[in-house]
Amino acid sequence: MRVVTVVGARPQFIKAAPVCRALRLRHEELLVHTGQHYDPSMSRVFFDELGIPAPDVDLGVGSGSHGAQTGRMLAALDELLDIEQPDLMLVYGDTNSTLAGALAAAKLHVPVAHIEAGLRSFDRSMPEEVNRVLVDHMSDILFCPTVCAIDNLAAEGVTRGVHQVGDVMLDTMRMFSESVDPRPVLDRHGVEQGGYYLATVHRAATSDSSERLSSVVRAFSRLDRPVVWSVHPRTRHNLERFGLWDDVVSSSSIVAVDPLSYTETSALLRGAHALLTDSGGMQKEAYFVGVPCVTLRDSTEWIETIELGWNRLTVIDEDAIVAAAGSVTLPDSRPEIYGDGRSAESIVAILEQAFTA
Ligand code: UD1
Repeated sequence: MRVVTVVGARPQFIKAAPVCRALRLRHEELLVHTGQHYDPSMSRVFFDELGIPAPDVDLGVGSGSHGAQTGRMLAALDELLDIEQPDLMLVYGDTNSTLAGALAAAKLHVPVAHIEAGLRSFDRSMPEEVNRVLVDHMSDILFCPTVCAIDNLAAEGVTRGVHQVGDVMLDTMRMFSESVDPRPVLDRHGVEQGGYYLATVHRAATSDSSERLSSVVRAFSRLDRPVVWSVHPRTRHNLERFGLWDDVVSSSSIVAVDPLSYTETSALLRGAHALLTDSGGMQKEAYFVGVPCVTLRDSTEWIETIELGWNRLTVIDEDAIVAAAGSVTLPDSRPEIYGDGRSAESIVAILEQAFTA
C-alpha cells in the first residue's frame, strides 16, 4: 500500500507513533505534517521522543481562524494528492488537520481511513465535534476505539467499513511510557507521588473566556494539593491577555510549566492524585494508568470513563471545580475497555485485507 498520513496537532503525533511503526514494516507511508502545531514543544519533541519518522512534507500552515487554517491545508493537500495518487489517506482524531486531510482525499476519490472514529460529545459548539461528524461521514474505513463509538456511528447510519480495534493511545502508552522511571520528573517539579494534581486546559470554550479562565485560576489556587499545570500556548497567551498570568505565577499552589513532552506528561500523570483537564485524550490516559480524572467540561466523548466512576464532569465554576477535585474516589475495577495495546497491528491488518487483496 502507498499511504498518505496527515498529522498536525500534538495528540495526532502521539496516536501516529505506533501506527507508523506497524505500517512501515510492509508498506510505504508519506507522512504529511500540516504545521498546525509548530512550536518545538508542541511538535518536534514528540517526533524525537516517540521515534516518529521526520515528516516527508511540512505544509507549514501555522495558526489562524478555523476557516483560514483548514483552507490553507486543503489547498496544499489537494495539490499533493494529485501528484502522489496514494491508495489511501490516513487521518487521526478530530482536529482541523483531520478534517482537511479527509476532505482533500474524499474530493479526489482517495479512500479515507479514520483512526478514532465514532466519538461524539453531542456538543456541536465544539469545533472538534463538527470535525468528527464530517470526517466520519467521509470515511471509507472507520477504526473505533470502543463499543460506544460503534453505536454512535450506527445511530447516524454509518455501519459499513466500521471496525472496533481498541485505542492506539494505549499502544503508545505501553510502548513509550511504562518503562520510564517517574521519580526524576516528579523531583524536577518539586512534587511527591500522590501529592499533587496534574492539570491541562486548552479548549477554546474555556481558554478564550476571561471569566472562565479566571474561575479556573482561582479554583486551582484553592486546592488541597499543589497543581502542576502544563500550560498550552493558547492558554498562556490568553492568561497574559486577560491579566491572569501574574495570579498564576504568584499562587503558592500552582506550579505552571511550559508544554511537557510525552514521557514527562505520562510520568506526572502516573504520580498524580488526580488529573484536572479539558483534554479528550488525557481523560483516557488517566484511565489507562488508574488515576481519577475531573473533566473541566460539560460533556465528554469518553463516556465509559464516567460510567465506570473514573471520571467526572464539572462546570467551569470556582466552587464546583474545588468540590469536584476534593471528592475524587478510586473505583475498585478498571476493565480493559480500550483494547489490549495492540490496536496498531489490527489496523494495519484490516487495511491490508481491504487494499492488498
Ligand atoms: C488543537 C485542536 C484540538 C486539540 C488540540 C491539542 C482543532 C480545532 N483543535 O487545538 O482538538 O485538542 O489542538 O493541543 O484543530 N499555538 C502556538 N504554538 C503552536 C500551536 C498553537 O502558540 O505550536 C497557539 C496559537 O496562538 C494558536 C492557538 O495556540 O492560534 C490555537 O492553536 P490551534 O492549533 O488552532 O488549536 P489548539 O487549541 O491547539
